[in-house]
Amino acid sequence: MERVSLLVSDLDGTLLGDDRALEAFVAWHDTVKDRVRLVYSSGRFMNSIRASIDDSPLPEPDAMIGGVGTEIFDQVANRQLVGWPPISNGWDPHSVRAACARRATLHEQPVDLSSRYKVSYYGYDLSDVFLDELRCELMEAGQDVTIVYSSNRDLDVLPAAVNKGAAAAYLAERWGIANEDVIVAGDSGNDLAMFLQGFRGIVVGNAQPELRELRGSNIYQATRSYAAGVIEGLQFWLDG
Ligand code: GLC
Ligand code: MG
Repeated sequence: MERVSLLVSDLDGTLLGDDRALEAFVAWHDTVKDRVRLVYSSGRFMNSIRASIDDSPLPEPDAMIGGVGTEIFDQVANRQLVGWPPISNGWDPHSVRAACARRATLHEQPVDLSSRYKVSYYGYDLSDVFLDELRCELMEAGQDVTIVYSSNRDLDVLPAAVNKGAAAAYLAERWGIANEDVIVAGDSGNDLAMFLQGFRGIVVGNAQPELRELRGSNIYQATRSYAAGVIEGLQFWLDG
């Protein structure tokens, strides 16, 4: 078996979505949990991820990444990591809101889905041109940001260099795990950054077009959906 020391997986639309497939994933995890660390990475915040773990068969993870990479909770230490996310000068959520408020196509998500490091909107069918213009406008307002667009609907504005991929890389480095020993899994735009870190990746069969079009020697496009797609990908990467 090829090595994996760390599995970082998205929840909604990836591990969650098919209860029977999730049971099969739990069975797989049971056989490897002594040597493979498991991390959930979600667009949702910690309290919401915790509720999903408590209400489902999802195994206890070793850490959780929440808010599209803006927060990391270390289960072993039982605390949120201080020093994450890294913040440069160009991040002021008020300026970000002011710029986004001028765009009629953007509607702010409910307040409990935003934080001081994540400002989120709904905006349907936004074009690349629109997203580039928004980035430029924010840059002119002194805001150096990461813009993440998922599922043709969710727009997240985060501090520069903060996303799910950077958070996963931070954890891998903290644990002394090489990139080639990491496998990531996801289904939508907010997972994209995880596939660009040199990890091996699994795109589940039900993924959004922005991930289905991903190609590369480190990308496995699964046929099956949700947790069954994750298992299919693990078999591909680990059993050859
Ligand atoms: C989750 C978050 C939402 C975010 C979306 C995409 O649904 O709750 O705020 O926009 O993920 O990242
Ligand atoms: Mg998802």
